[in-house]
Amino acid sequence: MTATKFAVAGGQPAFDTQIPVGQLYFPNWERYEAAVKGIFKRRYYTNQGPLVQELEVQLQQMLGVKHVICVVNATVGLMMAAEALELRGKVILPSFTFLASAQSLSWAGLEPVFCDVNPVTHQIDVAKIKPLITESVSAIMAVNLWGGASDVEALRKLADEAGKKLYFDSAHAFGCEINGKRIGCFGELEVMSFHATKMLSATEGGCICTNDDAIAAKLRNIRSSYGAGAPATVVKTSNGRMSEFQAAIALLNLEDFEGNRTNNENTFLKYQQHLAGIPGVRLIRPSGVSRSNYQYIVCEINSDQFGLSRQQLLDVLKAENINARRYFFPGVHKSIEFSSLYNQQNNPLPITESLCETCLQLPVGALLDINDVEVICDLIRNAQRHSADLRNYLGSVSI
Ligand SMILES: Cc1ncc(COP(=O)(O)O)c(C=O)c1O
Repeated sequence: MTATKFAVAGGQPAFDTQIPVGQLYFPNWERYEAAVKGIFKRRYYTNQGPLVQELEVQLQQMLGVKHVICVVNATVGLMMAAEALELRGKVILPSFTFLASAQSLSWAGLEPVFCDVNPVTHQIDVAKIKPLITESVSAIMAVNLWGGASDVEALRKLADEAGKKLYFDSAHAFGCEINGKRIGCFGELEVMSFHATKMLSATEGGCICTNDDAIAAKLRNIRSSYGAGAPATVVKTSNGRMSEFQAAIALLNLEDFEGNRTNNENTFLKYQQHLAGIPGVRLIRPSGVSRSNYQYIVCEINSDQFGLSRQQLLDVLKAENINARRYFFPGVHKSIEFSSLYNQQNNPLPITESLCETCLQLPVGALLDINDVEVICDLIRNAQRHSADLRNYLGSVSI
């Protein structure tokens, strides 16, 4: 292949249509139609309907957790979690996460304290949490990234010693296991996302998992201003209810979960095989778990070794109709919402800053033909080989 064959240099794109980056697993139409007919027959759209109740029971069994509270999405779930845990003041969390993790704190009147992450695993760096703990910190929110997990044991020990609450944003971690124990059982509670791009899609949706009866009772009352479950004293209520249509999709995707997870794992293994040996590309293996959902294929691009920056490689792939992504960019602490707050916190985040410039998310999920992984990896390999020539076509973007 020569540089002129690349679409960015005027060649034919490798794919006719866009390959999306996310999961996008859809259940079989006939099964969905039957489920929707049931909803119409019962004339029951929402308000803790039978499908939501069924989903909660099935998730409790699958995750081995006492309470699952289904919600409209994980962002609202995280907001509800802060209220149910009665958090005050500040909460420590990684900045290398999706904006919603930190925004949930703003909605609850809390201040995020940003912590750096481990350069190899990308999970929150437990050793760097300790110096950030002060009297005004009420909790640690760890984020289980990329189908991997944070060091849950070390976090529990640290939180207990410091007398702080511990909870998890597990939006990426549905169906993952730590030493045979499903994610969902750790900390005071965990919040999962069932967004369309996640492993278990409810179109939009999520759930909160906890083994604590009192927290669960509060969450059920916070979820709906109509009230639900055993009465519990809560100051604020909201509308975090999941609809029956969301639950119908989630229940059907739950039936398909094992097959979808295996498809993701095979995709990961194929990327691992075909990205091997490309200078400047490091594929991230989900860490800290005995079983991953392989929800994300993430690599770091070292521009000195690769010859193109992460952004330049993204531009090359985009021209080929491959929808790779910068996940997360620019870093929560540099976002419009939090940059001025971060500037007041004297707390450098060198690893996060570097990862925000180098991480690249590649396609995985239902709409990716596994044989196309080889095509994508060959393109990346050739882009590295022809990086000097390609830079001429990529304009003035410097590496
Ligand atoms: C780490 C993390 N937390 C929270 C969320 C928010 O999830 P939802 O879209 O269900 O509100 C996301 C969404 O991508 C996420 O990646």
